[in-house]
Amino acid sequence: MSQQVLVLPGDGIGPEIMGAARAVFELVIEKHNLDIQLVDGLLGGAAIEATGEPLPEATLEAAKASDAILLGAVGGPQWDHLPMAQRPEKGLLGIRSQLELFGNLRPALLYPQLADASSLKPEIVSGLDLLIVRELTGGIYFGQPRGVRELENGEREGFNTYVYRESEIRRIAHLAFGLAQKRNKKLCSVDKANVLEVTVLWREVLNEIAPQYPDVELSHMYVDNAAMQLVKAPKQFDVMVTGNMFGDILSDAAAMLTGSIGMLPSASLDEQGRGMYEPCHGSAPDIAGQNLANPLATILSVAMMLRYSLGQAQVAAEIEAAVERVLEQGLRTADIYSDGCTQIGTVEMGQAVCNELLK
Ligand code: NAD
Ligand code: IPM
Ligand code: MN
Repeated sequence: MSQQVLVLPGDGIGPEIMGAARAVFELVIEKHNLDIQLVDGLLGGAAIEATGEPLPEATLEAAKASDAILLGAVGGPQWDHLPMAQRPEKGLLGIRSQLELFGNLRPALLYPQLADASSLKPEIVSGLDLLIVRELTGGIYFGQPRGVRELENGEREGFNTYVYRESEIRRIAHLAFGLAQKRNKKLCSVDKANVLEVTVLWREVLNEIAPQYPDVELSHMYVDNAAMQLVKAPKQFDVMVTGNMFGDILSDAAAMLTGSIGMLPSASLDEQGRGMYEPCHGSAPDIAGQNLANPLATILSVAMMLRYSLGQAQVAAEIEAAVERVLEQGLRTADIYSDGCTQIGTVEMGQAVCNELLK
């Protein structure tokens, strides 16, 4: 039976980066005669315009029926006035939570050709290969109660709840330890255990699990220090594991170490390893519709999908090697441009990767 991939372009630069990624995906499907069907769906602002809801029932059903999901990005200023529950971002959060995609892998890998594009000195980032494992379906993003209420004196109060159950910490910890075991065997857990009880528990649970992975060296770091260490000496890290919000913030910082947020792919996995794949960046309204966006994070997300969900590790490696050769040729979108390179657009970057795959 053929494998089914649900494609959700989303908003802003979403359709543009997806166009380029789709061209690459379709090319490898044809080249290797893979039995994979791409099915289109609506999520986020695009879904609001078509159906009135950020996560239509049809999209959720298609997501559940698919072997994997490829997402562009959602959101934009035209929907920012909507109540929280109706915003494009709720569509994304809804799909993550309904499908229990708790394990978010965000690999920050510096391609040697991009050492100049990083905002840090080449010697600080060269050879960088770190993996952020972010818990994606719990924490302060989903904790109850939440909202804005009016106090007796008429003042408004906004509130969210930062909560993690032991079982939620355990499953993300096992995922992170397992991944560290396959890499350089160093796991740094990031928390705020000097202030927040929920992360005191987080730290305890990590320590309880550690003896099951005797070959992995576990360390703990407070999130403020981790942000500082990421820009000071990022190569000290192998795998970092953290909660939903800290992981969101630290992965954008880590992205910049690789030259641009336009380079960072991600996988969001459930307990069976089924997943959604998306670039870590957003819909970039400031550059949407101008053929300026870097599609490589999305193209590399296709590679991650082939590796983790579709059983095609060889094809994944082929895409990654093609991306590397394109960078080697000095082809760059604006965000990773440096002197002496050739600046190209989103469409052309997709074509350049396709050309390499055809060689
Ligand atoms: P953003 O990631 O969209 O953009 C931040 C900056 O990075 C912008 O200057 C943008 O031009 C640049 N950038 C992002 N992706 C790029 C790419 N592929 N190539 C070149 N430059 C790129 O973050 P934001 O501006 O804070 O958010 C914009 C919208 O996107 C908001 O509505 C937000 O909620 C949404 N968002 C969605 C996702 C997602 O769908 N996963 C992630 C983050 C933000
Ligand atoms: C991301 C985004 C999302 C998040 C938003 C758009 C809900 O920033 O995927 O990193 O915060 O998880
Ligand atoms: Mn984010």
